[in-house]
This record gives sequence, C-alpha cells and structure tokens, in this order.
Amino acid sequence: MALYLGFDSSTQGLKALLIDAAKGTIVCSESVNFGANLPEYCCVDGVLENPNPKIRHADPLVWLAALDLLLLRLREAGAPLERVAGIAGAGQQHGSVYLNERFAPIIGSLDSSSDLATQLAPALSRKTSPIWMDSSTEEECAELTAACGALIRDVTGSPAIERFTGPQIRKFAKTEPDNYASTRRIHLVSSFLCSVLTGLDAPLDGGDGAGMNLLNLSTFGWEEKIAEATAPGLLAKLPRVEAVPSVAGMLSPYFAKYGFSAGIPVATWTGDNPASLVGSGAFRNDIAVVSLGTSDTFFASIDSYRLDPEGFGHVFGLPSGGFMCLTCFKNGSLARDRVRREAGMDWESFGGKAFEATELGNGGRWALPWFDPEITPLVGSGGLRANFDYDAAPPEVRVRAVVEAQVMSMRLHARWIGDFRTIRVTGGASRSDGLLQTIADAFDATVETIATADSAALGAAMIAAHTCAGMSYETLASAFCPPTQTLHPRAEGVRVYEECLPVFREFESTAQNRTPMNTLHCNRASSGQFDY
Ligand code: XUL
Repeated sequence: MALYLGFDSSTQGLKALLIDAAKGTIVCSESVNFGANLPEYCCVDGVLENPNPKIRHADPLVWLAALDLLLLRLREAGAPLERVAGIAGAGQQHGSVYLNERFAPIIGSLDSSSDLATQLAPALSRKTSPIWMDSSTEEECAELTAACGALIRDVTGSPAIERFTGPQIRKFAKTEPDNYASTRRIHLVSSFLCSVLTGLDAPLDGGDGAGMNLLNLSTFGWEEKIAEATAPGLLAKLPRVEAVPSVAGMLSPYFAKYGFSAGIPVATWTGDNPASLVGSGAFRNDIAVVSLGTSDTFFASIDSYRLDPEGFGHVFGLPSGGFMCLTCFKNGSLARDRVRREAGMDWESFGGKAFEATELGNGGRWALPWFDPEITPLVGSGGLRANFDYDAAPPEVRVRAVVEAQVMSMRLHARWIGDFRTIRVTGGASRSDGLLQTIADAFDATVETIATADSAALGAAMIAAHTCAGMSYETLASAFCPPTQTLHPRAEGVRVYEECLPVFREFESTAQNRTPMNTLHCNRASSGQFDY
C-alpha cells in the first residue's frame, strides 16, 4: 500500500513521519537534532552563537546536512521508502535563505555521489539565514511602517514584525547591498527544502508566505507597494505563491540513493504552524491548538478575517483552505528546559511532582521566563522576571511559577482569536499533565491530546496524502487525530485563575519594563555573566 512522508524542519531539528494513509497508521518516524547530531555546523538549539541577543541566525547548510542524515537513518532503519507515493513538508516560519544564480543549475543536476550541503554551499549569496527568533529589525519595521502605514497590517494580516521576512530582507539589502544584489532568489526554509527535493524553484504556500509581511492575503499575490518599500528589485527575487499546496514537482533523482522509487510527487511545503493545525485535526473553528515547541503558539482556523488589536498576532493561510490566526511566544520549550534543569528535575517530576507539591495559583507567585527578548508581549532585553524571591524558593514553587505565568500570558494575549471550549495541545511538552491541567483551568476549556506530539510532521504527511492522492483532510483527521487523552477544567482551578488574571496582567505589564530580577537568570549575552 502507498505511504506518505512528512518532514518538519523545525528550529532545533528535522523530523520525518511515514504514514499508511489507508490504514490510518504511523509506519515509522525518525529525527535529527542539529546541535547534537551535526555539531560541525555550530547550531546548538538550531542557532549560531551571537553576542547580540537580538540576532539569531542559522547556517542553512545544516538543514541540508540534516536531510541527508535523516534519509540515511530511515534507510538504515529499514523504512520502506520504495513504497512512498507522495512527500510534503513543513519549515520553521519566517527564516529566509538567500541564493545566487548558481542555485537553479545546481539543484537541477545534483550529483548523488556527493552530499547536499557541499553541492549547495556555492549557491548561497548570504552565508547565514535569519530565523524566527531574530528580533534585530526594529529600525526596518519602523521604516516600513512609515512608508506603507496601515497597508501592511491590513493586507498581510500582521503589522511590520521584527522576525518576519520582509523587514529581515530590508536589513540585508541595507547592510550588505552587494550580496543582496547578487541574490537571485529568496526562499523560506519550507520552499528552499522543497526546491532541493524537486530540483525546481518551488513555490510558497499561503500559510508560510503570510509570514513575510509582503503577501496580500486577499489575492495571495505579492503586494507591490510593500515589496518596493522593502528592498530594490525585490519582486523578481521572490518565489511564486499558491494559496494551498499543489504538486510542486517530482522527487529529484538524487534521492534514489535512499531507496525511493522514481517519479514521486512532492507537494509544496508549508510553515510548521499551519502544518501543525492540519496534523492536530483542528479544522473546525471552535477548536484551538496550543503547540508547545521551541516557540509556544496558540492558533485556530477562523471563519472571518480578523486582526489582533494588540498587534502581536497574525493571520496566515491554511493549507486545507481558508485562514488561521496565531499568536507566538518565543520563550517556550528552551525556557522550560532551563527552569527544569535549574530545579534539578526530570520531565516526569516537572509535569507531576512539582504540581502535586504546590497549590493552585501558587499564592500569586509568578516568574516570566523571558530568557530571550520576548515577542508576546514585546520585551527588549532577556532575563527572568519574578514577583517573589525566585532563587530562595523551593524548586516545585519555581516550576509552577513559570508554568502558570506562561499559561496566563497565553490566555491574556491569545484571547483575540476567540473563546474556545476545546483546546488541542501538541508538541513535546504536551506530555506534561501539570501543564495540560493548567491550560484546561486557565482557559476553562477541555484539553485534548492526540497520539503523536509531532503534529507538524503528521500534518505534512497528511498534506502529501491529500495533494498527491486526493484523500480528504476529514478522512485523514478521523484516522490520525482522534483525541487520546482528555482533561476537563476543574471548578476550583477556573475560579483561582479567573481571580488571578487582573493581578497577573498588572505584574506582566510592569515586568515588561523592569530589568531582570538578577543576573543569574539573564541570557549570557545580555548579562555578560552567566548562562546554563
Ligand atoms: C510563528 C513563529 C514560530 C516559528 C517556529 O510565527 O515564529 O512559531 O514558526 O518554528
């Protein structure tokens, strides 16, 4: 029977999930961690070290090396790649790859006796790729807003945002005009990897394209006035866009060495969040998704176009058609991991014992783990902010203080998307019961999880089955996304968080302007002293 392969090239690693769409089963999955498995690219946690905490770039060659390594691992694990009948993928959003005139000929004639990173290195007109964690384009956002006014927000679904690709391109064009001039094509992570797989210049889909501050969401075409204000000659450097994924091309003969059959269709890739919505099966607009990954995101499909009045959130296209709204929080799993390690706990205690040993609401003690400058709300300098003596508190209290603060902040800033009775939680931390129950109580909603936490890779595999074999998303979702765990809000929890909310709002807003509580919990780059 035919199998479908979904990739997720996320911040910290590349994952693959192989599904048997007719049987509704996951055949196998595999992953590569950029930092641990490819240390020669110096991308620990997916990022190149930089003394400026606002600058976050990656080496795009690590994404290619990971693709080769992942396929090798799949083949060596005996994955039946010869039965793959369609491929799709998802990429971390907003990150951009800058390519010169050699890109098209190189991907069109890849040599299978060599590897991807070596062959593609000469095609880069910029050696590094700014990724979604970068917040160094404040100046460019102000310039674009001055030039285009409300047009950006109204047509692209987001105001000018530091990590979005348009402001990043503007900064590159201003600071490296020669390299910008030699750039023929600017791809997102998603369309870059799709191009390499197909050997053709792949399009973007409306899900990932919307994260650029350049796409008109009513036409799914580039908005000329904004492109002109962004950088000279930009329109000619952008890929074409299609509202929803279609077949972008056939798998390049290069990949036959991993055991694929000839002529396999590859669907247009999308962004990790749009793919995650598909892979969570949350097509109905009364179900929201919380994705707990490197970033924490809250999103849902929408029936009518709406904008975040606070200016933090976004509208993206949805691979299954229509639109989704999303709010992104930068300090997600890396922050939780750091707090867990500092507390000397394993993940089981972090999600269990820490909650059993502490009281609901934590006596009003909160700690916002903004180790990196935060996106929602906007916080300029990294560091933890607490309203109690964090270092002197027992580890369980510190863990609850961080988890409750993250969830309450999400509740405050995601409310514009809607009021949901059901929330599907996905991503690595969706296996933490303490965190799941806190979400259920703080949102007064039933929380569900599904069998796989890798909803972006699953969504990509579902997009492959839909695009390459015409299977309906509803059929795929009923096979792959039935809830496997359900937690209900507890009356006491709902009451406690409801009562806390105004006080928390006050704390968060003062914390935004407050310097971090002490140097110990600052980012090394911003404190110049410590890091863990
Ligand atoms: C969404 C965002 C992040 C990245 C993470 O706007 O910036 O969720 O997509 O991969």
